[in-house]
Formats: sequence, structure tokens, C-alpha cells
Amino acid sequence: MECLLQKTEMKLLSTWLVLLIVNQAISILKTEEVTWHPTYHLAPPKGWINDPNGLIYHNGCYHAFFQYNPENNKEGTKYWGHARSYDMLNWEYLPIALSPSLEDDINGIFSGSAVNIHGKLVLIYTGVSDNFNKQRQMVAISSDDVNFEKRGVVIIKDKDESNFRDPKAWFQNGSWWVVMGSQTTDKLGEVLLYSSNDFFNWTYQGVLAGGNESLGYMWECPDFFTINGKQILVVSPQGIKQDGFNYQNLYQTGYFVGDWEPGKNYTIKKGFTEIDHGHDFYASQSFLAPDGRRIQISWLDMWESVFAENVTGWSGMFTIPREISLTDSGDLLSKPIREILEKRNQNTDIFDTIISSNQMLTLNNSVFSSEILIEFNFLNSSCQAIQLFLKEEPTIDEGVVLYVDFELNRLFMERYYPKYGLDKSNRSVAIDLSLSKLSLDIFVDSSSIEVFVNDGVAVMSSRIYPNNNQRKFSVAPVNGYVNISLISYDIVVKNQ
Ligand code: FRU
Repeated sequence: MECLLQKTEMKLLSTWLVLLIVNQAISILKTEEVTWHPTYHLAPPKGWINDPNGLIYHNGCYHAFFQYNPENNKEGTKYWGHARSYDMLNWEYLPIALSPSLEDDINGIFSGSAVNIHGKLVLIYTGVSDNFNKQRQMVAISSDDVNFEKRGVVIIKDKDESNFRDPKAWFQNGSWWVVMGSQTTDKLGEVLLYSSNDFFNWTYQGVLAGGNESLGYMWECPDFFTINGKQILVVSPQGIKQDGFNYQNLYQTGYFVGDWEPGKNYTIKKGFTEIDHGHDFYASQSFLAPDGRRIQISWLDMWESVFAENVTGWSGMFTIPREISLTDSGDLLSKPIREILEKRNQNTDIFDTIISSNQMLTLNNSVFSSEILIEFNFLNSSCQAIQLFLKEEPTIDEGVVLYVDFELNRLFMERYYPKYGLDKSNRSVAIDLSLSKLSLDIFVDSSSIEVFVNDGVAVMSSRIYPNNNQRKFSVAPVNGYVNISLISYDIVVKNQ
């Protein structure tokens, strides 16, 4: 009897211990919820988000809609969430703009875009029904920029309706135009073009662009716009296979450069090129700011990623809005929007300093909501590589390492958070290290890092999951010394 009691007590004790450990883990994660929710990026207060939708400057402010599952922090049924902002950094969350309610959108409100028609905010989106097999383009209109009245289906694809989504609309030469992500009967990605005089009656204009096997089986989220007289097509293909350092993510977002005008074919001059080289960047959409800048925002995540934050009630975030431009040789440049300069609060300034061989410069123990602007001067450096750490200690494996590799002429980003299921993996981008300088503009938020190289020539964006004690930023040259200048800022964005 005594023994039985002891056994029961032991069982109770072990159950209690297990509960204690689980509770502790939950409370650690709860603390991390506070620290992982971004301070200057758009992310849902709760629930799941993916693609940016309907980006537009309208009636004096910026609107961002987003693929949203308000029910829980998993993929689920899609709604359009809605936020507005005066600076694209400080977002006010508005009521849900579109919910599944009609026969044609009952399985979800997929991605789409926004336009201004006679002062009214008009949305065109993909309504999904028949267990995702029917994807039809639908319109909704608002009179107050907050509440939307659905106007039903406006575009139906003749044959297979199962992969026909993400309308991106614009006005040109007196007509409305829309590009659609689609798939050929041979299972290749393609973009279809439609035009309309009234935004309700649309005429099919043919295939704007299509891929071959090396460019995947489906193209999502097309975007089509002019910069410097060149016509850029951005698409997010699914199914591209990794090729050395290229296409290392499960899905990609990239661009083509070519020529196009209404009524003519799109002639492509530069083939598909990835826009960002980090672990997490997908489903970009762009729009024009009132001053003519083309701004691009993307989902700073990737389908089928770990989303360590989702145990804490939310999932997914957007990139910093980026001003994109085109060089004369047809390369896309991405720079953080200049509005972010007004949010800087300077905290460190190191000018023209040598870090000797075997030495380390530790900048800051709590890089949290920060920008670190670094310039390496190679005219006065001898090292063979440079390492930059965002970790508890550089000697500890877990965390982020940026690695400037002079042998391969590449910048690597390694990310490793094993306790949240993120295995060690690196991404990289080619950089020109024959130049006398290298500048890295590094933006860290609670659970993200975005590295802009040499004024936007390359960008690497990744989600990261540091605890509060894993936010020490240090720089160390490898086999030699390096000359460095550095300014770091806290990015302070007050919530509305
Ligand atoms: C891209 C995408 C779109 C679709 C939406 C669904 O990430 O798959 O093609 O409209 O997400 O949430």
C-alpha cells in the first residue's frame, strides 16, 4: 500500500515536473513574443499573414492589405487584412477589408491589387472556391477607404481555373490592364494579360511571358511596371531547382527586364534574376509613392518555413519598404525607403579605425531595433575575410554570421537557431570586392535582418530568432587587419 502510494506520488511528481518544464518553455516563448514582434515592420498583432496585397497611396496615406488568417497563426482560410500609414513604417491596423462570403470566394480571398477609380479605392482580388479549384478575379469598392462592397466576379479563365490568381492592375494609354499568375497545360509558369475600359469587362490579351522547365511549374504574384523606360516583370515562381548558389530557397522572387507597350509583345532583354539573396523573401508587390518613387514590399518569409514565432500567437511579417530603381545596365537596385532616416536615433560612431588581426570589435550588446551602417576601407586593410556576428558570443554556434569572403567574392549569411528547428544554413550573394570600399547597411528588428550592400546593389533578408541575450554585434577580420567606419542607430517608430 505504502509502495503504491509512493508510486502514485512519484507519478504526480514527474507529471508536475513535466508541466513545470512545459510552462517554463511557454513562458520563455511568451517573453520572446514581446521581443520577436517587430517594432518597425508590418506584422499582424495576432494571426497569420503572407503576401502584401493592394499596396497603394490613396487619399493622403499609404494602404497595405495583406493575406491574413485572423483565426489562428497557421496558413488557414485567407482574408484581406488592412493597415494604413503616413510613413510606411508606423502602421495603424484597420478592420478586415475582405472576408470569404460569396459562392466564388468562400474558400478564401487570395492576393490582388488596388487602384484609384474616380477617387474611390477599388480592389481586384482572386476569389477561391470549389476546394481551391476555382480561382476567379473579383472586384470590391470602398467609399470610405475602410469598408468594401463586393461587386462579384470580373475575370474567369476559359479552361482549367485552378492556377489563375494574383491580379495586378494599372492604368495606361486610356485603358486598365491586369497581369495574372498562371500555369500552362504543360505545367509551366506563365503570366497572362487582360485589358478593360471600365475595370469590370475584361478582354484577354494573351500570354505576356512564360517560363520553361528551369523556371518552375507555376508563377505567382506578377507585377509589371516601367522604370527608366524599361518594363520590369516581377514574378514569384514555384518549383525552380537549386543551381549552385542560386535559387537556394524553396521558392524565389525575381525580375525580367524588357520592352513593352500596349498592343505589343513583351520582349525580354534580361532573364529571370533573383531580387533578394537571404532566406526569406517572397511575393513582392510594388506601387508608386506620390513623389514618383517605385516602392516594393515583400513577405519577409517563405512558404514551408519554420515560423518560430507562431507559438506566440502571430506569424509572418513584411520587409522594410524598398525604393527600387534600375541601373543603365539593367540591374535592379533596392534601397530602404528614405522615411527610415527620420527614425534614426544615433548611438555609436566609430570613424576610420583599424581592427587588428585576432581582435574583435564589439559594438553593442542589444541590437534590437537597429540600423548598423558599416564601411570597410580596403585601401587600408590586409585581411582575407571579415566576420560579423549577431550572437550571444562569437564562439557560440547559435545565431547569425555574415562573412565577407575575398576568395569567392561573396557575402554569406549563416543562420542557426536549433532550439526552434532552424538548422544551420547559409545564403550568399556575389559582391565586387575589387572596389576600394564595401558598405553594409544592416537593419535588425526583433526577428529579422536585412542587409543592403553597396547602396542597394544586393540585398539579403532573413528571419532570425535571437533571445534577448543573443543580440551582441561584433566584427572581426580574418588573417589580417581591417579598416572600418561605423555608425549605429536605434530605429524608433512610435505606434499609432
Ligand atoms: C503567394 C500565394 C498567392 C496566393 C496567396 C494565397 O504566396 O500563394 O499566389 O494568392 O499566396 O495566400
